Amino acid sequence: MNIPALENGRPVRGDKLHCFRPFIGDEEIKEVSDSMRSDWITTGPKVKEFEKRFTDHIGCRYSTALNSCTSALHLSLAVNDIGKGDEVITTPFTFVSTVNVIEHRNAKHVLADIDGETFNLKPADIEEKINENTKAIIPVHYGGQPCEMDEIMKIADDNDLLVIEDAAHALGAEYDGAKIGTIGDLTCFSFYATKNLTTAEGGMITTDDPELAEKSKVMSLHGMNRDAWKRYSGTENWYYDVSLLGYKYNMTDLQASMGLHQLEKFEMMQEMRREIARTYDDSFKSVDEIKTPHVKGKVKHARHLYPIQIKEELLSIDRDKFIKALGAENIGTSVHFIPVHMHSYYKEKYGYKPEDYPIAKKVYEGEVSLPLYPKMTDEDVADVIEGVEKIVEYYRR
Ligand SMILES: Cc1ncc(COP(=O)(O)O)c(C=O)c1O
Repeated sequence: MNIPALENGRPVRGDKLHCFRPFIGDEEIKEVSDSMRSDWITTGPKVKEFEKRFTDHIGCRYSTALNSCTSALHLSLAVNDIGKGDEVITTPFTFVSTVNVIEHRNAKHVLADIDGETFNLKPADIEEKINENTKAIIPVHYGGQPCEMDEIMKIADDNDLLVIEDAAHALGAEYDGAKIGTIGDLTCFSFYATKNLTTAEGGMITTDDPELAEKSKVMSLHGMNRDAWKRYSGTENWYYDVSLLGYKYNMTDLQASMGLHQLEKFEMMQEMRREIARTYDDSFKSVDEIKTPHVKGKVKHARHLYPIQIKEELLSIDRDKFIKALGAENIGTSVHFIPVHMHSYYKEKYGYKPEDYPIAKKVYEGEVSLPLYPKMTDEDVADVIEGVEKIVEYYRR
């Protein structure tokens, strides 16, 4: 394969532009140091404060801070006693943990194919998969674009199902004026290093249901009725009881220290993401060989990812070669996602074929996620655009 940057010896950039970089400032560093000097480094006052501020930010009633979104999803199923004999409908076009957690509960995952424009579940396809064993729907707001939540909530209401939103990408998103985190029965956020708000690793469940909120808190720490902060921070009452079979999913004060400051600058970081996405949208309007993300309906997009689609019919290279060529220009990219049913664990256990979910397969095969994060400079953004244009020009059919 000839690669333009190698052929003429001059890549678009001299140094590597990473696909993601976190936006951490001195405020986060100081707050983490403060926790480390305070003698209280695990779940304590900063986690409580982060939960309180997150609740205010979202406008929900309760938030439970956890060590990941995977834990949040698993716990959401557990607090609702979803397990053996139950079915949960979700998408194949997600990070594998969305489906892994259903496996871990010994419940049955039921996949519905995605919409070819938004890459989200289609409400009508969800409806078709419902039977008497169905207990929940897990819509995934792919890339930060909310699913059609009014239709999904109506389907859930009509069929007495729970809606557990996988909002790993969707902090900052809104559907019809309602913030993601205020719509489904439980919403799960991720604060992984690449996410719109990061605590290095971390997650949150939001809900308006006091019982689910309380059960999530208790089950996030072994099922203990009093956490260490409650036991040791004031009175010397060491006693606790384990009333439920829980997990070890709690967030630490070190993580919450980061979260507090990330939340403070969240709107600014979102605006930076939106500005970059707008610049890409405008620049790629005239590039027919790639398809840019389609924002559909009454949504505010959280702009977590900028997934483009390579139109193979107009280019002489496929997605993998496109990524290689961009790499030679020193531009890092990523792919979101290898559909769950195409991973060997799922193929071997369930006999899935790639074409079982043809839209997810096709979208995957053409997808490239371009760099999109607040730390990008105008020059970085211009380099990505130049790199994409250079490759398209070179390989145009
Ligand atoms: C759609 C989706 N769901 C869930 C997760 C899991 O998040 P975490 O890494 O916080 O467990 C991710 C992580 O990338 C994701 O992209």
